[in-house]
Amino acid sequence: MTYRADNGRFLPATGMEITESGELVLAGIPARELAARFGTPLVIILEDEVRKNCREYMERVKVYPRSRIYFASKALLTVGFAKLIEQEGLGLDVVSSGELFTALSAGFPPEMIMMHGNAKTREELTAALKAGVGRIAIDNLAEIELLSELTAELGVKQKVLLRVTPGIKPSTHRYVQTGQMDSKFGFNLSGGAAEEAAKLILSVEGLELVGLHCHIGSQLYDLEAFSATARIMLEFYAFLQKELGAPLDELNMGGGLGISYQPADAPPDISTHLAKLVYTVLGECSRLGIEPPVLCDEPGRSIVGEAGVTLYTVQSVKKIPGIRNYVSVDGGMTDNPRFALYEARHHTAMAERMLDEAPEYWSVSGKCCETGDMLIKDVLLPEPRPGELLAMFSTGAYTYSMASNYNRVARPAVVLASQGRAELLVRRETAEDLVSLDEIPSWLCEESKAKAG
Ligand code: LLP
Repeated sequence: MTYRADNGRFLPATGMEITESGELVLAGIPARELAARFGTPLVIILEDEVRKNCREYMERVKVYPRSRIYFASKALLTVGFAKLIEQEGLGLDVVSSGELFTALSAGFPPEMIMMHGNAKTREELTAALKAGVGRIAIDNLAEIELLSELTAELGVKQKVLLRVTPGIKPSTHRYVQTGQMDSKFGFNLSGGAAEEAAKLILSVEGLELVGLHCHIGSQLYDLEAFSATARIMLEFYAFLQKELGAPLDELNMGGGLGISYQPADAPPDISTHLAKLVYTVLGECSRLGIEPPVLCDEPGRSIVGEAGVTLYTVQSVKKIPGIRNYVSVDGGMTDNPRFALYEARHHTAMAERMLDEAPEYWSVSGKCCETGDMLIKDVLLPEPRPGELLAMFSTGAYTYSMASNYNRVARPAVVLASQGRAELLVRRETAEDLVSLDEIPSWLCEESKAKAG
C-alpha cells in the first residue's frame, strides 16, 4: 500500500509516493527497481507531472484565445522530450543550433520554434532561416545586420521579435536575473536603444517585426514583477504601433515562474500567474486603447522542474566530529551543478528510508576531485550507508541540460516514467562515448611509432 505523505515530506509531483516501509516510489515503480534497471546516477522525469503543467499553461487559451506557450528547451531537451512537448501543443524556444537540431530531429514543426540568443552565429541564423523557424528574437544590432544580409541571400522573409530589456530587477539569484539594465541580453528601453533597433528592423526588407519579447529572470515568486514588466512592455508596444506604425501583434513575456525546491517553498501556481498576467494585459491594453496582443510565455522550470528526481548510490561516508558529516555519492556537479553555481538547495532524502528519523546534518558531496563539488550542505538525513539510494528532488530542469564531463565522468541516463512504465529519454554515457570525439595529432602517433620502432 502506498500513500502520498504530507507531514513535512516533500513529494512535489504527481506520481511520487512513499510505501509504508518508507520507500520512494516513482510512477508506481520503487526507486530501488529503477536504480537496478537503469543504474545510478539516474534522472527520472515523471511524465504525468510534465503533461499536467503543460495543460495548465495551455488552459489559458480558454480565457485568452490569443495565447501561445513555448517550452524553454534549455531546461531539458532530448528528442523524446521534444515529442512530448509537441504532443501537448506547446512551441519550443531554442537558443543554439544544437537545440534547434534536436527539435528538428524530433520532427518538431519549425513554425512552432522560436530562436533566442545574445550571440547567435551566422551558422545558427542560417540554419534557423533555412529550417523556417516561426520566430527569431533579435537581441542586438550585429544580429540585425547579419539577418538583413542572410535573408537577402536566401530570399526569405523572417518574422522577428525585438528583445527588450525592460529595466526590471526581480528578486532571485543574481545569476538568473535578466531584465535589469545591466544585462547582456536585449536592447535597453531607457536610453532609446530599443526604439532605434525597432526602426532599423522596420527598414530591413527581409524582416517582419511582429512583436516584442522580454524575459526578466528565473525562479521568480513575485508576480508583481511580471505585471510591472507587462505594463512597461505594453507602453512601448503601443508607442511603436502609434508612432512608428509598427505592425506589432505579439508580446512574449518570457519564462521565469519559480517552483518548489524545499517543503517550505510556496511558489504561485501556474494558473494564478497566468490569470494575473491576463488581467494586467487586458487592463493595460484598454487603458492604452490598443488591441490585446497574441500573448506568449516561455516557461521552462515550471514545466519540468518538479517532475524530476535524481537517484544516486551512496559510495562512502565520513564523519568529522564537531565539524561536518559527509556522504559521497556516485554523481555530483557533473549531473547537477546547481549547488556549485547558485548554492541551490534541492530537497534531499534517503530513497528507501523516507520515513526514518533524520537526526543529524549531512553534506552530500559529489565524486569530482574538487572541494566545490557538493550537491548540498547540511541537510537532515538518517545516517546514510554505502550502497543505499539517495534522492534529490526537483531536478527536472537545468540539471541534465547543464551536465558536464568533468573528470571524464559519464553523464547519467534520463528516463521518462508514467504509471508503471519507465523508458529511456537518454541512455547513460559510456567510456567509449567519452573518447569518441578524441583525435590524436599525427605527430604524436609518429613519435610513439618511432619510440616503439
Ligand atoms: N526565456 C528565456 C529567454 C530565458 O532566458 C529563459 C531562461 C526562459 C525563457 C525560461 O525560464 P524559466 O521558466 O525556466 O525560469 N540555469 C539556471 C536557469 C537559467 C535560466 C535561463 N533562462 C538554473 O539552474 O536555475
